[in-house]
Amino acid sequence: MIQFLLILLIVRHGFGTRNDEEKKLNLLVRGWAPLVWLAPGERFMPLGVPEFLEHVQAGDNYLRTRLNIETLLMNESSFLYGKQPDGNVPVYALVKNCINLPISTSSSSATINSFIIDRKRIKQHRAFIPRDENNDINASIQNNEVATTKVKANHGEMTLISDENTFRKLHFHVTYWMFYPFSEGKAVCVLDLGFLGTWPIPSVGGICLGKLKGYGNHVGDWEHMSLYFKGDDYPVAMYVSAHDAGAYYRYDIRSGTFVYESQETRKGIFQKPIFPERVFTSSGSHPVLFSAKGSHGLWTAPGKHKFVRLPRLYDESGFGIPWLTWRRLELLNSDNEQFTPAWMTFRGKWGNPRSNCHPLVRLGFNICEFVDGPTGIPMKNGRFQC
Ligand SMILES: *[C@@H]1O[C@H](CO)[C@@H](O)[C@H](O)[C@H]1NC(C)=O
Ligand SMILES: *[C@@H]1O[C@H](CO)[C@@H](O)[C@H](O)[C@H]1NC(C)=O
Repeated sequence: MIQFLLILLIVRHGFGTRNDEEKKLNLLVRGWAPLVWLAPGERFMPLGVPEFLEHVQAGDNYLRTRLNIETLLMNESSFLYGKQPDGNVPVYALVKNCINLPISTSSSSATINSFIIDRKRIKQHRAFIPRDENNDINASIQNNEVATTKVKANHGEMTLISDENTFRKLHFHVTYWMFYPFSEGKAVCVLDLGFLGTWPIPSVGGICLGKLKGYGNHVGDWEHMSLYFKGDDYPVAMYVSAHDAGAYYRYDIRSGTFVYESQETRKGIFQKPIFPERVFTSSGSHPVLFSAKGSHGLWTAPGKHKFVRLPRLYDESGFGIPWLTWRRLELLNSDNEQFTPAWMTFRGKWGNPRSNCHPLVRLGFNICEFVDGPTGIPMKNGRFQC
């Protein structure tokens, strides 16, 4: 993180406004990073990507574990079980800027005429400082001088104009990505029919007359939530993703909570999970979220949640281990590929191909003990558009 900032400082010296904006953006991304509660009894912890990559090899568009999955699962100190997250495991914050900064329009007719510090506006914006127990954040926002850029375009082509008294607002969205080396599927009640394979059967009165078998496990698991900032020192909206569904919340500054707006099912079996009305914040800014036991789907409240992928199954979340994601954030700038790690460009699947499938899998009966690993960050569309 510090190296990243240093590089930015070197590359951008001479562009005072840009520097200040980067600094401020950093503080906002950190100040509003989520507090994620892992579920009580969670066995599969998150892990940093570089560490995961040491244990897999790429080929045919998949990252496969060097040892077979069953062997790794039998060993509780294998990398599949991840690490205690707090301060150890990075969270990747992918930032997308919505305003083209003046420097990037240099090929056009825009020229930067002057930088004007607008002190009046800085004072006004002090009211919106995220309350955080981290004094550094407070101090740096206070000291952060915000400059306005006056840009004049020739030939009447105005690309970016802000008058001397206008505070140049930061407008961006950020997605916080969390990586887990293994995702545990769900136990399904099955009956073994010999060469016809095992078939899922409904349990009768809550009792499984066959045997319980885990389905839908996979190596590699990306989970995310996004925030949208539009000019203020607090976000306007939040998107939280659980499996193939997700919910939009808007930020209510008076109560300091996120208020439910709408939800969507991105794909798969249509189900309507119930999202709570409000999401609370920790220290006045960090949204408090809950990672489901085993599957790590992100929920906005503790308790039992209808599992999205398979009917009649639930996700469970609660107050297990807190993960203060801002303790170790790595910023990825989607507009600046030179600052993104090489693994960001991998477009294949972050885990082994499916295995131990039902014999009728070729007829579209997609039930496997291990399913394909998920795709990574570049293959997933952000939920906010600029
Ligand atoms: C379990 O995993 C650890 C860490 O990879 C390794 O050092 C150890 O030898 C493994 N134990 C067994 C029994 O395979
Ligand atoms: C943050 O700054 C404000 C204004 O200077 C001050 O009142 C407040 O006590 C500071 N909070 C912390 C935690 O330092």
